[in-house]
Amino acid sequence: MTEKQLLDLLHEMTLKEKVDQMLQITGSFYQKDANEVLTGPENKLGLTAEDLRYAGSILGTAGAERLKKIQERYLETQPHKIPMLFMMDIIHGMKTVFPIPLAQGASFNPALSKECAAAAAKEAAVSGLHVTFAPMADLVRDPRWGRVMESTGEDPYLNSLFARAMVEGFQGDDPKEPYRIAACVKHFAAYGAAEAGRDYNTAELSEHTLWESYLPAYRAGIEAGAALVMTSFNTVNGIPASTNRWLMRDILRDELGFDGVLISDFSAIYETITHGHAKDKADAAQKALDAGVDIDMMSDVYSSNLCRLVEEGAVEEALVDEAVLRILRLKNRLGLFENPYKDADPEGEKRYILCAEHRALARRAATESAVLLKNDGLLPLAPKSSVALIGPYLRSRGMISSWAIAGELSDCVTVEEAAKSVFDPRNTYYADGCPMVSEGTAFAGFREETPCAVSEEKQGEMLREALDAAKQAETVVLLLGEHYLQSGEAASRAMIELPEVQMELFREVYKVNQNIAVALFGGRPLDLREISRKAKAVLEAWLPGTEGGNAVIDLLSGKANPSGKLSMSFPYCVGQVPVHYNMDSTGRPWIPGGQDRCRSRYLDIPNEPLYPFGYGLSYTEFTVSPVVLDRDVLTKDTPLTASVLVKNTGTVPGVEAVQLYIRDEYASVVRPIKELKGFQKVRLAPGEEREIRFTIDEPMLRFHTADNGFSSETGRFTLYVGQDSATENSTCFELA
Ligand code: GLC
Repeated sequence: MTEKQLLDLLHEMTLKEKVDQMLQITGSFYQKDANEVLTGPENKLGLTAEDLRYAGSILGTAGAERLKKIQERYLETQPHKIPMLFMMDIIHGMKTVFPIPLAQGASFNPALSKECAAAAAKEAAVSGLHVTFAPMADLVRDPRWGRVMESTGEDPYLNSLFARAMVEGFQGDDPKEPYRIAACVKHFAAYGAAEAGRDYNTAELSEHTLWESYLPAYRAGIEAGAALVMTSFNTVNGIPASTNRWLMRDILRDELGFDGVLISDFSAIYETITHGHAKDKADAAQKALDAGVDIDMMSDVYSSNLCRLVEEGAVEEALVDEAVLRILRLKNRLGLFENPYKDADPEGEKRYILCAEHRALARRAATESAVLLKNDGLLPLAPKSSVALIGPYLRSRGMISSWAIAGELSDCVTVEEAAKSVFDPRNTYYADGCPMVSEGTAFAGFREETPCAVSEEKQGEMLREALDAAKQAETVVLLLGEHYLQSGEAASRAMIELPEVQMELFREVYKVNQNIAVALFGGRPLDLREISRKAKAVLEAWLPGTEGGNAVIDLLSGKANPSGKLSMSFPYCVGQVPVHYNMDSTGRPWIPGGQDRCRSRYLDIPNEPLYPFGYGLSYTEFTVSPVVLDRDVLTKDTPLTASVLVKNTGTVPGVEAVQLYIRDEYASVVRPIKELKGFQKVRLAPGEEREIRFTIDEPMLRFHTADNGFSSETGRFTLYVGQDSATENSTCFELA
């Protein structure tokens, strides 16, 4: 439809019809077999049958036949044949589940995430979906927060690259195209800044930090053309995002130029009452509409109040029209007026869902996202050596996150299944060793699971079996990690340790065999002090997705060489949190080994994280030469080039992500001690050396200045090129 046709349609609609377009409810209201995932609190919704009949969109329901039927029935009575929108959280895969976004960030390969998003879009589109509530572009610095698994990490630049790549993967050049779906950048804004890492908590941050750290990735997703943005649950400057006019109109719409659909998070408009911002639902409706929120997800605040408020003159109908026009434009952008069923196709579901190509991509992504944190030569496993694979992740299919709501655990390949197809059964031993978690462990997430109760006697039997295996094998691989429902939404943990029952297993095995490699699974950085001290190798596999078992065995066996780099710091312990590489200097920075006591440090632990952002090892070794600049003065018109020689000094081919960091030594606001400004992944054969060049230009040095501008400032800069954020391989230049 043309814009004029949309405007004509808008003007033909009754006020009630318009307001119904602004309502989103779960699909269960439209089908007998409620095959839907309720991803938020079930509030008592004062919805009428009329509201239900004409709601503009539903969430959480998928399936080509199911959604075609819902659409058919809906259009039979829809007065203006306006099609319904179908939305769902396809965060890191639909049925073929890819590694969690925190893992994808560790691949330092946005193009790979773009491929994963495109594959997810294809599976979602043939399943009848039009919109995904992804990418989650929230910057994260606190591993106590369960949703760090959903982010690509602690760096604004890296997050921006991934947000852009994922939007492009989901939407392609035009979401109307076959097998594309609309993307929704979330959660606007600064949801990841929840105080104390407790989900839904207050975000206390300056506008400067908002601009410098939290907004860049949302901006990148919007600039990539994201069709929707979702509000966050938290307050910003003391006002809930969903009723925060400054955040949504001044920042999102005016400064970032977003003119697409703004949807609230699940009942977030209603919750502005609980926050203590709106007096009641009518007040919440007025404030949210004034902030420019177009769709009210899973609350009746809009549908029960807006008509009356307009009729009473308390709300201008023009504000309703503005919201509804954006919704109509989105449906039009997806081509739904011409084809309300878009790509819904049962045959397409059979052809594309979990197809070999998607599984291969999932395996590649899981392999490239894993991070080798330690290796005293124990990995890769020697082909003929005897190995004992022990731990709760040996046979667990829980390798997908709680956000993989359309994924099936049963489709996941276990480590044991993968191992049995590779390792010699004559010298490979398998044992669970212990339950995943102790009884009574709290879980969150959208699947009904309770920790498996295992009797003392059974646990003793499991341990004996594991110790027998450990005694017979030359090498032990312990497959450990958080339960997949210990991270995700509403899954904050104050203690970021491995389940105690697993640490007991680790200690007992260590007594009988110290050749231990640990493969770790889970959705957040953990306190790994004891593991990293005692194990001879540590491989972080995250929640690797449907092909996780195959990827982990590819890596342990040496078929694949780890190349991942941490997208989020692993703290020394939870007391160090928040810890991130791009911190400010302070006026009294601690110099390790220094004598001056009046310094910014702890008496009982180091300042440095256990493993820093950008860190990751390989089965080979690389060297990076000192940095050489082609000039040491940069001007607005003359960029400079930094180059290093990278060499594979080991014995096997490998990939290194060479990273460029810059520090602005002094400015109108203090600047981080390092900022990631570029990286290049380079594959080198043993002995091969290659020159890596980075171009540094003036726009790279711009920042949110003290006077609320955005520009660079002349002065002295230090430039680092290295293998992780702790690199000291540096040189200086001046911006004139
Ligand atoms: C949830 C999440 C959000 C998700 C939405 C719909 O509460 O916060 O990320 O997209 O509800 O499921």
